[in-house]
Amino acid sequence: MGGSPQLGARGARVAAIVPAAGRGERLGGGTPKALRPLGGRPMLVRSVEALRRSESVTQIVVAAPPTLVEVVAQLLGRDVRVIAGGAERVDSVRRALSAVDEDISVVLVHDAARPLTPPALVDAVAAAVIAGHPAVIPVLGLADTIKEVDPDGRVIRTPPRDGLRAVQTPQGFRRDVLAAAYALRDVPVTDDAGLVEALGVRVTTIPGAHEAFKVTRPPDLVLAEALLARLPAADGSATGNNSATGNNSGAVEAYGGTDARRLG
Ligand code: CTP
Ligand code: MG
Repeated sequence: MGGSPQLGARGARVAAIVPAAGRGERLGGGTPKALRPLGGRPMLVRSVEALRRSESVTQIVVAAPPTLVEVVAQLLGRDVRVIAGGAERVDSVRRALSAVDEDISVVLVHDAARPLTPPALVDAVAAAVIAGHPAVIPVLGLADTIKEVDPDGRVIRTPPRDGLRAVQTPQGFRRDVLAAAYALRDVPVTDDAGLVEALGVRVTTIPGAHEAFKVTRPPDLVLAEALLARLPAADGSATGNNSATGNNSGAVEAYGGTDARRLG
């Protein structure tokens, strides 16, 4: 694993699934998004490094673009299991979930496209699941007002912003809960917790981190490059502070901290 820290090993066995098989159509540029460089290293490598630097993750399974499984396996090293992803994100996660070791009791699902996620956020999500919450998601309040519109773009209503949250990853689950959720078919959702909600299981929110934003469109990549230059800790070069729960890394604080600090 080169100079990387070892995967954590204490207490509950925690796997992190990384869906990385998307094409990155909104970002453009030809290369699959997970392999697009950010500060000279592929985004996927940075996302996996954040999981390695966490204290809680003991296994990492990556769903790669099907034609690039070997390339991605070489890139990430032997401590990461790489499998072929599917046509949709749910297919990639479902395949990766079936490649998780038997003794894993907690599963985190983390987008490859969130390369600046602080390891402390990974640990905070895992800790909340280990503490007894069956499903845990990191969230932030919204900057923009959200409108519900009809197919013609006419506004139907304006939900009060105070009650809305933007959802990030990693999302954490008791393994049996996530497996049951992924056994459901044809539930249209845009995140893993959406499937768990469909099961009727309560989903708990914890404060997200601004750096954990998803690189989706070209300006996001510019922002990520600029942040990386400002935040040495986000470069994976710092090995010191990866303490878990409740107190995110110095990098988070430097960038304005998290929102609320309690379980929601
Ligand atoms: N993903 C995946 N398998 C798919 C589609 C998406 O593993 N069939 C992954 C992406 O690689 C990404 C994460 O899911 O890490 C979040 O998806 P998104 O940001 O939508 O990435 P893409 O699908 O690659 O981008 P786009 O929708 O713009 O094509
Ligand atoms: Mg997509």
